[in-house]
Amino acid sequence: MANEAEPRGSVTEWAIRRGQDSDGTALIALIWACWSAYPGIKMDVDGEMPELRRLSTFYGSLGGTLWVAESGGRVTGMIAVHPLDPPTWEISHVYVEPSLHGSGLGHALLDAAERHAILAGAKRLALWSDTRFDRAHRFYEKRSYVRHGPIRVLNDISNSLEYGYAKPVDGVESLDIAAAGSALPRLAEIMIACVDDGASVGFLAPLAPDKARMFWRQAATEVGGGKRAIVAAWCDGVLIGTGTLDLAMAENQRHRAEVRKILVHPAGRRRGLGRQIMHALEDIAMEQGRSLLTVDARAGDPGEALYRAEHWQESGRIPDFARAADGTPHEAIVFWKRLA
Ligand SMILES: CC(C)(COP(=O)(O)OP(=O)(O)OC[C@H]1O[C@@H](n2cnc3c(N)ncnc32)[C@H](O)[C@@H]1OP(=O)(O)O)[C@@H](O)C(=O)NCCC(=O)NCCS
Repeated sequence: MANEAEPRGSVTEWAIRRGQDSDGTALIALIWACWSAYPGIKMDVDGEMPELRRLSTFYGSLGGTLWVAESGGRVTGMIAVHPLDPPTWEISHVYVEPSLHGSGLGHALLDAAERHAILAGAKRLALWSDTRFDRAHRFYEKRSYVRHGPIRVLNDISNSLEYGYAKPVDGVESLDIAAAGSALPRLAEIMIACVDDGASVGFLAPLAPDKARMFWRQAATEVGGGKRAIVAAWCDGVLIGTGTLDLAMAENQRHRAEVRKILVHPAGRRRGLGRQIMHALEDIAMEQGRSLLTVDARAGDPGEALYRAEHWQESGRIPDFARAADGTPHEAIVFWKRLA
């Protein structure tokens, strides 16, 4: 669990402190240093964002907090967080001086803001990011945020369009096609870790990142076509598990769905996430009018234990169903469950 210790980066590179209104000029320069790397972005502080001159007071009035990072006496980073629609808190003004991109300062700032919000009761974190800031998108996706909701139009002099990103601190959520697309790198990482750990989920170890991403790209496409559902599970703000439901059944089996790929990263096992993912998939199946679920699991795997713990019925065993990485064939157990 997070502690409310004052955030601190690498002592040699930066120190993070609360922001003050007197930082205004330095913060405006920092934001411009980041924005000017992108074509078409203009800045009119007094016309469009006068709050930048008194940002600490601005966030204080919203019940939030502003932090500033300093390196060698210069302002090199900033971040703010405030309650939006409690228990949702919004992260904003995330900027790191270009010379420090990739240094870890962005992570340190986001750690500070997330920790503060969670300790203040946040259950969900949200943010907006200009559609042009592709580097920022990769950063937020690495931090387990997924695309959320429609694109926002700012109607400003830069013609800004913004993607919404969000994540629950803990819990399981269904991913639409935009969320699934943005979660793709993280879902691939989870699958690779599970396969490396010996899971029998259709791939042999070592699973190449491109192959794993290809699987999730196809899965995201199927979400868009209504053929598949994908859920993701977060624990302490980290996307750590997933599960999918195959909805594309033959026309005489539209009352059925197939559970596939319930995966919990080995670092997150035995905390109830597999169970939560399964419950979320069952809820989706019922919403889709499905009354029967089926799945197969390798005999003796944690998956078998999970399905038995959740009272699935065993219908039988199939010998030599799949092969392990060393070529050894293994048996699978077919399970089914009726939904109320
Ligand atoms: C199967 C898997 C999803 C379980 O995830 P998890 O988050 O660890 O599961 P949970 O913590 O929700 O466990 C729920 C129950 O399942 C049973 N269970 C899960 N893993 C178990 C294990 N390794 N040994 C014994 N029982 C286990 C227990 O009854 C557990 O309840 P308990 O912890 O109160 O005793 C995870 O081990 C995994 O990702 N495995 C690799 C991928 C895989 O094989 N997926 C299934 C393919 S369809």
